[in-house]
Amino acid sequence: MYTATMDALVSLCKRRGFIYQSSEIYNGLQSVWDYGPLGIELKKNIQAYWWKHMVQFNENIVGLDSSIFMHPKVWQASGHVENFVDIMVEDTVTHERYRFDHLTSEQRSSCVSPKGNPLSKPREFNLMFKTSMGSTTEKGHEIYLRPETAQGIYVNFKNVVQTMRLKLPFGIAQVGKAFRNEIVTKNFIFRTCEFEQLEMQYFVHPNEAGQWYEHWKSARLNYYKGLHIAPDNLNFHIHGADQLAHYAQEACDIEYKFPFGFSELEGIHNRGDYDLKRHSEFSGKDLSYTGEDNEKFFPYIIETSSGLTRCLLMVLCESLDEETLQNGEVRSVLRLPPQIAPYSATVLPLQKKDGLADRAKKIFHELQKEHMVYYDQGGAIGRRYRRQDEIGTPLCITVDYESKENNTVTVRDRDSMQQRRIPIPALLDYVRNNKNKDLS
Ligand code: GAP
Repeated sequence: MYTATMDALVSLCKRRGFIYQSSEIYNGLQSVWDYGPLGIELKKNIQAYWWKHMVQFNENIVGLDSSIFMHPKVWQASGHVENFVDIMVEDTVTHERYRFDHLTSEQRSSCVSPKGNPLSKPREFNLMFKTSMGSTTEKGHEIYLRPETAQGIYVNFKNVVQTMRLKLPFGIAQVGKAFRNEIVTKNFIFRTCEFEQLEMQYFVHPNEAGQWYEHWKSARLNYYKGLHIAPDNLNFHIHGADQLAHYAQEACDIEYKFPFGFSELEGIHNRGDYDLKRHSEFSGKDLSYTGEDNEKFFPYIIETSSGLTRCLLMVLCESLDEETLQNGEVRSVLRLPPQIAPYSATVLPLQKKDGLADRAKKIFHELQKEHMVYYDQGGAIGRRYRRQDEIGTPLCITVDYESKENNTVTVRDRDSMQQRRIPIPALLDYVRNNKNKDLS
């Protein structure tokens, strides 16, 4: 069985227009990446899939899009100013930086770097990026680029409850950019300084927090199975008391088996009433909730927090396959679920001449009204199929000479490579059904 390597993935992403190094013509900016024409389609589709499963399919979860810049007090209340720190050390010869907790106990006790050089003294390093707004740069006026989207949800709690007339339990979901000045960034887009999160905060009665925490743990694991992730490649990592973030009462990670080992994909936290209480204290505005029988309390929050860009890396790792065909040729194929593939189909005229390209273009324009579709008329048909296999296009629609006779086309399935003839008027339904076939 083929297992994707990081080198194969990075090469595919660059070669086929998924991901480029940021500012590449200036030799790049470390740990920041740009999403190319195919990468943006894939990212948007993963985001839409998540939104569908969290907001559209749940009657009591609503969406929000809060700003990246927030009042500086937000980050004092959240505990990030005080607690969002890593302990950093530097190799005094190579000046490479390491997270202290990532070193072995021997390296820590002997103060020697993995390269064998003396280490600097450990120092605390806050992960938030600081900037200033307007003309003032005085201390105390700094603002931060948000390190998580969650706080935008907490500070809008009252607004959303009142405007949407929500009753517990309910959720607020948000997708957006987050920024962390990570000490160590490696493994391509796994840990970057600028990334995107898919976060949902579920507000519950304190007595029900335990049961909702368990509910979201299993719901989120099932969600990834729906994205065609093999169950063996997913794991729970339960946080021990010494690993809990400053806000968490209990927490776990869903981990994925990346080529570099099982690593965090999503965090699920029971945050207790920490956030609403702290924002009430720091803002002086009462963020409590009045339930049945006029019971007044701070709801507990169960948070599901996933990385969009990390999820994109996961689906690429999971989907990349190499297959040896009967003729000995090796086919590289990205077996993406049709729901999230950059293109739902590609239209290919067998030849440019004899009116085939005109017919193909007409089909392309028709399908384009509803789907992202690609059109490719250059080169040998076999090579054109391979290119689509490698970017994960589930269907290749070929217009050939028979199309002129009986108004049909061949539709080739990416995974089985089987071809069948479909009447042109039935194509739109066929592409739609193929895309939605495993929408649970
Ligand atoms: N609001 C809670 C929170 O932010 P987290 O575990 O720090 O929790 C949640 O982050 C998710 O965000 C992670 O599971 C990961 O998928 C993603 N993430 C965090 N830091 C990241 C980084 N530097 N680069 C890419 N993704 C990151």
